[in-house]
Amino acid sequence: MPIKPDRIAELTKKMGNAKILILGDIMLDEYLFGQVNRISPEAPVPVVEVISDKFLLGGAANVAANIRKLGDDPLLLGVVGLDEASVKLSQLLKSKIIRSDCLINDENRQTTLKTRVMAGNQQIVRYDRENRHELNAETELKVLTKFQAVVDEISAVIISDYGKGVISLSLLEKVIKLCREKNIFVAVDPKETHFYNYKNVSVITPNHHEAGFAYGQRITTEKELLEVGNGMLEKLQAKSILITRGPDGMSLFQENKEPTHIPTFAKKVYDVTGAGDTVIATFVSSVCAGADLIEAAIIANAGAGITVGEVGTASVTPELLKKELNLNIKDGNLVKN
Ligand SMILES: Nc1ncnc2c1ncn2[C@@H]1O[C@H](COP(=O)(O)OP(=O)(O)OP(=O)(O)O)[C@@H](O)[C@H]1O
Ligand SMILES: [Mg+2]
Repeated sequence: MPIKPDRIAELTKKMGNAKILILGDIMLDEYLFGQVNRISPEAPVPVVEVISDKFLLGGAANVAANIRKLGDDPLLLGVVGLDEASVKLSQLLKSKIIRSDCLINDENRQTTLKTRVMAGNQQIVRYDRENRHELNAETELKVLTKFQAVVDEISAVIISDYGKGVISLSLLEKVIKLCREKNIFVAVDPKETHFYNYKNVSVITPNHHEAGFAYGQRITTEKELLEVGNGMLEKLQAKSILITRGPDGMSLFQENKEPTHIPTFAKKVYDVTGAGDTVIATFVSSVCAGADLIEAAIIANAGAGITVGEVGTASVTPELLKKELNLNIKDGNLVKN
């Protein structure tokens, strides 16, 4: 795969100057760390003595954190409750210099909060507090109104759909229509069940399970991958589909072009959570910096490679991307070591 160090230097230098809107399901991840010394007398379950806790941004908020780390300016648009978790979330966003003025509080909903109880490295239980029903008409109108108010400031939109209710068909139709009129790049990290609502967007980034499920064809061979990728492109009239394939890297399908397959270069894999968020953030940031879609996919793949090689989320910077990519270039070609 041809890519030159000069071009990488140019693109990574240009990254970090765009304003990118992230629309979708915002989540808060809570971790309770403790130790287990006994079994409860009340039920056959361990008693965890909690020693510390930690909160992290999840879902669309983690995509925003990735965008911020890349140097771009994230505008996070979504709905939270009017509860303790929403306060915590605002504090966290502030600490990461992510504006929260596009967040909409709906007192009838809970902020999505996922709590993991950990004993050492062992997860004992996870409990979720959330609503998954669609927004009511009033709240949806507030989201749309915010979107309309900022649309002229932004270069791209990332739709981060985790199926928690923000992304409805009617909202999607209006947002996508407006973006098409204004020539704004639209990227979607999809929820399988909404797949056929994402019509006419610039890129959709399902993993191979989601793509296979949505298309009704499991992906186990290259032939099936091509069938699903090309079929989906046509069915959704999307400009491109980026199917991420875990340890096998990713495949980019574009209108009227041969697909591009990009292998992974990661040497060590510690933590694959959040890799999808890094892929879409890095891809869109690259496009805003002037990359074509193949270049953006190559850069996004390098970003994911960095993320899976460490514990925690949102640490990929343009400088790190340049380093990572240069590690894998030999004679002007990206090669697997
Ligand atoms: N085990 C792995 N080894 C190397 N790279 C990986 C591995 N898992 C994921 N990646 C990298 O991360 C990218 C995205 O991973 P994956 O296809 O699992 O997406 P995802 O399922 O959407 O992730 P998420 O769990 O964050 O939603 C891959 O295309 C690849 O570049
Ligand atoms: Mg994903």
